[in-house]
Formats: sequence, structure tokens, C-alpha cells
Amino acid sequence: MRNIIDFQKDWYFSKKYISGMERDCSLDDMESVQIPHTNVELPYHYFNESEYQIVSCYKKKFRCPQLSDNNVLRIRFEGVMACAKVYLNGVFIGEHLGGYTPFSFEIQNVVKEHEDNFLTVVVDSTERPDVPPFGGVIDYLTYGGIYREVYLEILEPLFIENVKAEATDVLNPVKGIKLDVYLDNRIGKTAVNADIKATLTDLSGETIADVSETVLVEPGKQCSTIAIKDLKNIQLWDIENPVLYWVNVEINYANQIDNFTTRFGFRDCNFTSEGFFLNGKKVKIVGLNRHQSYPYVGYAMPKRVQQKDADIIKYELCCNLVRTSHYPQSVHFLDRCDEIGLLVFEELPGWQHIGDENWKNIALNNIQEMIERDWNHPSIIVWGVRINESLDDDCFYERTNKLARNLDSTRQTGGVRYIDNSNLLEDVYTMNDFVHSGNNIGLRKQQDVTGLTYDVPYMVTEYNGHMFPTKKADNEERQMSHVLRHLKVQDASWADDSISGAIGWCAFDYNTHSDFGAGDMICHHGVMDMFRIPKFAAFTYGSQISPEVKPVLEPVTYWARGERSETTVLPLVVLTNCDWITLQFGDFKPIPVYEKSKEFKHLPYPPFIIDTSTITIEQISQWGMKWEDGVITGYVGDKPVKTVMMAANPVPSKLLAMADDYKLSAGEKDATRVIIKLVDKYDRPLPFINAIAKLELSGPARIQGPTEVILTGGSTGFWVESEGTYGEINIAIACQGLRADPIKILVE
Ligand code: GAL
Repeated sequence: MRNIIDFQKDWYFSKKYISGMERDCSLDDMESVQIPHTNVELPYHYFNESEYQIVSCYKKKFRCPQLSDNNVLRIRFEGVMACAKVYLNGVFIGEHLGGYTPFSFEIQNVVKEHEDNFLTVVVDSTERPDVPPFGGVIDYLTYGGIYREVYLEILEPLFIENVKAEATDVLNPVKGIKLDVYLDNRIGKTAVNADIKATLTDLSGETIADVSETVLVEPGKQCSTIAIKDLKNIQLWDIENPVLYWVNVEINYANQIDNFTTRFGFRDCNFTSEGFFLNGKKVKIVGLNRHQSYPYVGYAMPKRVQQKDADIIKYELCCNLVRTSHYPQSVHFLDRCDEIGLLVFEELPGWQHIGDENWKNIALNNIQEMIERDWNHPSIIVWGVRINESLDDDCFYERTNKLARNLDSTRQTGGVRYIDNSNLLEDVYTMNDFVHSGNNIGLRKQQDVTGLTYDVPYMVTEYNGHMFPTKKADNEERQMSHVLRHLKVQDASWADDSISGAIGWCAFDYNTHSDFGAGDMICHHGVMDMFRIPKFAAFTYGSQISPEVKPVLEPVTYWARGERSETTVLPLVVLTNCDWITLQFGDFKPIPVYEKSKEFKHLPYPPFIIDTSTITIEQISQWGMKWEDGVITGYVGDKPVKTVMMAANPVPSKLLAMADDYKLSAGEKDATRVIIKLVDKYDRPLPFINAIAKLELSGPARIQGPTEVILTGGSTGFWVESEGTYGEINIAIACQGLRADPIKILVE
């Protein structure tokens, strides 16, 4: 049986690689670390980008597990940024170029049995111009290090390299699965007969069907196809009900058994010139772009935190799609998208720049590695096979499209451009349409972009972003404009049936190069900040969900008479899925507002925009009058479902602290986020407070980043990282004389 051994612990790290280190068995002067690891922890902002662009060295001492005669022993890396040279006992094993895709090397011929082995990985995290995405400037940081998992794999001499599971007859009552089983036969020089068994089970492990066959396996690599047919009562995977199944393939030769298990779903997806269809049903795509980066540790966040991002995008931002801009992201993130029904647009690494032939070949490799890693994720509905926002290069893009289609005939291709009249070599014209600048149309008609005289499958892959960067603590007028811009583009997408949907730039703020951003190494383009704390614009997405799922009521205001330019909180945009609302000012009678904004009428849940034509309480806008508390209540039918109270005189009254998880897993590096808010008596954060929160932690964990943090917009966050030891973590947080309820997290 294959044996997969976790290789995350007991690594040694040196920030500086010195030539010859791969031949040196000494671990002195090296720091003990665990994977996932970042080569340099960075400040939150204002830092020198060359800090992490270094060549560093990782080492691991290990004993070889028991091997039988012709076992294959492999070391697998899920992602090393950006180039890795791997040595075992001083012998060069292999090199991988590119930081976003997995790779593995065989070591059975070099490994020493019964004595210590020294694995060395020389990690080049500089921006080598010969390797995508580098060669030009890029608007994000790539960080560095062995930032995804490492495994040691012991395989039988006849083993399964990969399995591609394709659902057939998905929309028929009787369905099937076609399994391409990629085999590698190292037994000898002649072909052998082996038994293959494929089993489909549901997630509880109950067998639904199985099929067995004997196949003739030639020496070396071959692909054998088997089919599981006549599948009845199979549930489809979709956004609301993402049903998953397990497929297990087993190969048996002379009682040496290898098996490969993959999760999979039955679903049919199709971009057409009339929009996007999932299982034959039209779905308007509402999405946001995600960078996989975090404060301080860059890309090196463990599984739980990767999964949480998918949950935030699905459940807080209520999107149905995420684009993994601009590279393949963690399998944990994608697994979670499968589990919760969040569609994915995945693309190859790159940003505007296309390099020479060698560079293009690496890009093609990256596509292959991406598709072969991810082809069984039902959440992925399209492959991005163009370098984001590059110019046309028909010769190159004919190759990328051909490769993607050969590898996976079930998904359409797309490729993100920002140029008009670009040659359509993909199945879907995917366009960054930044036309909206505040006082104009939300999106262009597709034919104005494509230059074609007929409609094609079309999707908008970015809008807003650099057009209107907005910080979480920016003033109220800017927050409102930020909100209106997101509403405007989404409304335009809903209004046009030929647009499959629109994916905003972007979900979360991200660190970037000094050529971009606000001068502090951050692009404040997110609808959430880097801690994933919402700005008001987050609720343009978060309010587009049935109030039966959750009522949302978010007035876009700090509720102060003198914050905006003209002594008023009007017009007041209220992002909500309620049928109608009331606004009460002080002791005045609540005023009902029934009419939703006509400007955004195509949205499932248009906002209310309260202005002087809806409201007659003069004091609201009268400089020199008494300012009062405000109360907004949202109703569904005649039932009040949500109330927001806004204090006329907010003062710090409570320090709130919430962890995403109160249990972490022992035995591995794990982490969870804690959010802190300094709030008034109505639990609303104090938007302009400049306060320092002091964090104290005891137990088997650490706080990533500093232990004194500044609240921006009344809130901030941090991640608690455990190294795998069992125990109790206690965190005390104090700010402005207030203490949050202590946080206790168990590592078990
Ligand atoms: C796009 C680009 C993104 C980001 C965005 C900012 O041109 O694809 O990566 O830079 O602009 O709005």
C-alpha cells in the first residue's frame, strides 16, 4: 500500500544560502522551523520588498522508512516560492521553477537506509526574470520559502500517478464516470497483467458502485481508462447543495496494492453567449478576486486559514465565485470551495508580462501542473490560460488553449485580458472592464469590447480596484462612493443577459510592490482589509442573499453630523435585503422607507437610499441643532428582523475579541484569526479612534506579527499560530483601559 508521510516538522532554516551547504551535514546556526514557512516575516506595511527576495536554505534530517526491494520513494512539495533546487546527501535530485504548483522527485537511488539522510532545499525567492510571473512588474508580492506542505511517499513498483475523474451524462437520470488512470510500471522490462478496481462511495463511505478489470500494463507510463456506468440516484454538485463523492482506484499486481483516492462531484457547467449555466440552470456569477496573502507571513498560512477564506467569500461576502488571481492557490482553499459550493476560476501564474520561449515553456508547464493537480475539483468551472492582462500572442495562446483542452475536455478555457478587440482563442472572453469611474455606465456591452458582431460567452473578471482604492478607515463620503461603484457594476452585470457575471477587484487588501499601492506596500483595493475585516463595500455583496438565510442591514454611515462635507448623513445608503426599513432620529417618530433605489433595480436586493425627498426631519442636516441617536430597523413583510442603533455620542464602552476557532489541531502547524473591536454602547466600532491594543499570550502558540497593534477603523485582527503541541492557549487583550473577555483556545 502507498504510504504518505507528513514532512512538515523538524526542518532547519538559514536565511542565507552559502554555496556548499547542501554537502554539509551540520545543522548548527540554523533555525528550527515547521512547514508551512515564510523565509522572512514582514511588517504589515512600509517595508523594503528586497527583504524577502533572497536565496535561503532549508534542511531536514530523516531516517528512511522501511522499503522493500523496488519501492519508489518520492518527496513531494506542494509549493516552494519561487525556484527550488533539491539535494539529498549532497546529491542533486532536481529543480523546480515556479512557486505555485506542486512537484516531486524520486530519491530511492540516493537515500541511505539505516543512517541519517540530509535533505537540502535551496530556495531562490528572487524575481528571476526567466520564470513566470516575473520579468516585468507585478502588482502583488510573491514572498518566499517552503510555504506549502511537503510529503514523503512510498509507492509500490506499479503505482497510480494520478486519476482524472470525469462525470458523463451528468444531466441524465442514469449517469456514469470515466476514469483515466495514469499508471507507472517499474516492475521490469515486460508488460504485466494487473487488476484494477474502481469504487464510488458517498462521503459517509457507503459504496455506490464498483467495477473491476484486468489491464495489461506496459513498462513505464500509461493511461488506462475505466468506466463506472449505470449510476442511478446520484445527486448533483451545485452551489446550494454541493454533494461530493469519493472515487477510489486500486491496482493490484502480485498482491502489491497501490491505491489513489480523489474527491469528485457530478455537475455540468457551460458558459454561453446567453450567460452561464450550472446543471442546465442559469446562474449569474457574482464574484471577487482573491490573493492568497496574509499580513506578516505572506503565503505561509496553514490549512485552516486557507479554508476560512473560502468561507468568508461564500458566507460573509455571499459570492458564488472566486477567481484565484493570479495563480493556482492552496488545495485546502480549493477543497473548501468544493465542500461549500463556491465556484472557482483558476488561472496560471503571470501578470501582464510574457517572456521568451523558455519562459513560455515554463508557463505551459505551470498550466499542466495546475490542471493535473486540480482537474477533479467540481468547484473549478473554467481554466484561465492567458497571462493576466497580457497582450495578444496567438502562437503562445493557441498552445496554452490546446494544452488545457487536451488535458481536460470537460472545462472551457478563458484568459483574462484588458485589451479590446483581442483575438478570441478561448471558449470564454474574460475581460477586465474598468470602464466605471463613478459617474458613467457600469459595464460596456460585450460587442463594444470584443469588436465582434455577434455575442460570445463573456464574463467580466475585474472592475473597480485601482479605480477607487479605499481604506477601511477612510471617510464616510469615500466609503459611500466605494459602495456605489461596486453596486453600479454589479447592477450592470445583472442587467445584461449576455454577461455571465462579474468578479470584482478584490476580496482582500494585499501587500504589493512599491510600483503600486498607496505607498505603504498595500493595495487597499479589497472590500475587506488584510485581516478580512469588512469595509462598507463588503456589504454590497453580503446583502445579496435571501433574508431567510440571514437578514442584513448595513447603513453606510459613521452617524455623525459633521463627518461629511455638507453637514449631513444624507443621502444615506442602506445595504439590506429587507423589504422595507424605518429610520428613527432621537425621539422623532420612525419614518418608513418603502422604495428601493431604482438606480440599482437589477440587483436581487437593491439598497435604500434615504435623502431629503424621503425624510423630513430637519435636524438631521442642520448644523447647530442637537445631534441624536439613530435607529434603523429592517422588516420582512411586517416583521422587524434586524435593528441597528447608532450612538450620537459614541465613546469606548467595550473591547470585543472573537476567535474564528476555539480549537486547533495538535500535531501540525495550525492557526486561527482573532478580531478585536473597540465599540460603543451599541457595539459599533469607533471608526476614527487611534488606540493601541496590547496582546498577551500564554500556552503552546505565538501571535503572528507584533503584540501591540493599532486599531484602524475601530478594529484589527491577528492570527494565533500553534506549532502542534497539545495544551491551552490563553490570550489577554487590553486597550484604552478596557479588557476583552479572555480568549481560550485548546490545541487537541
Ligand atoms: C488589474 C490587475 C490586478 C490589479 C488590479 C487593480 O489590472 O489584473 O492584478 O492590479 O488591476 O485594479
